[in-house]
Amino acid sequence: MFKTHRKKLLVTLAMVGCVAVSVAAYTPDVKEQPRKRNLKVLPENISKDSLHDVMEGFNDALGVKCNFCHAPRKDDATKLDFGSDDKPEKDIARSMMRMTADINGKYFNFNSSTRPDTIRAVSCMTCHKGNAHINDVAK
Ligand code: HEC
Ligand code: HEC
Repeated sequence: MFKTHRKKLLVTLAMVGCVAVSVAAYTPDVKEQPRKRNLKVLPENISKDSLHDVMEGFNDALGVKCNFCHAPRKDDATKLDFGSDDKPEKDIARSMMRMTADINGKYFNFNSSTRPDTIRAVSCMTCHKGNAHINDVAK
């Protein structure tokens, strides 16, 4: 309610051109922008569908659910806070993403446009095969 009120006020102020400069400092807060994603490895502009496909791939490759890497929300523990980095598994997954990309880039000469079909790339599934824990020694 407060927000809507403030927005109306801003719109009014903006229409009065001359005060626009003085309110410029506020505008980024008030504009209804989508929340900025917390992406450090995937491209910022990845579509919602592609992002979801990548995540489903992680679930399959590790044999886990989304909550293996994503922490629960502070205000409602029945939901996940996907932007949060509270679970260490999420950062491990980021390292794994970088490692996998490095292996493909360095040793498989992987390049999506010139990829020969005789040489396959390494994916999470190559090592994990449906298991998060793959080191026998660690068990
Ligand atoms: C193996 C760990 C792992 C699993 C399992 C996983 N995720 Fe993720 N997820 C990540 C990582 C890592 C990132 C951040 C990627 C980056 O930094 O580029 C991320 C980012 C996201 C984001 C973007 C959050 C933001 O910053 O706005 C969403 C949404 C998301 N995951 C949804 C899901 C869903 C839904 C599932 C289950 C279908 C899932 N994830 C399963 C590791 C995981
Ligand atoms: C070259 C092999 C290899 C590839 C490729 C690989 N991983 Fe891993 N990953 C491992 C090993 C080994 C471990 C340690 C497993 C253990 O301790 O049992 C591990 C551990 C992990 C863990 C921590 C599990 C835990 O118990 O906390 C996560 C999360 C993870 N990998 C995610 C990924 C994701 C996501 C990908 C694909 C982007 C990936 N891995 C690709 C080898 C690999």
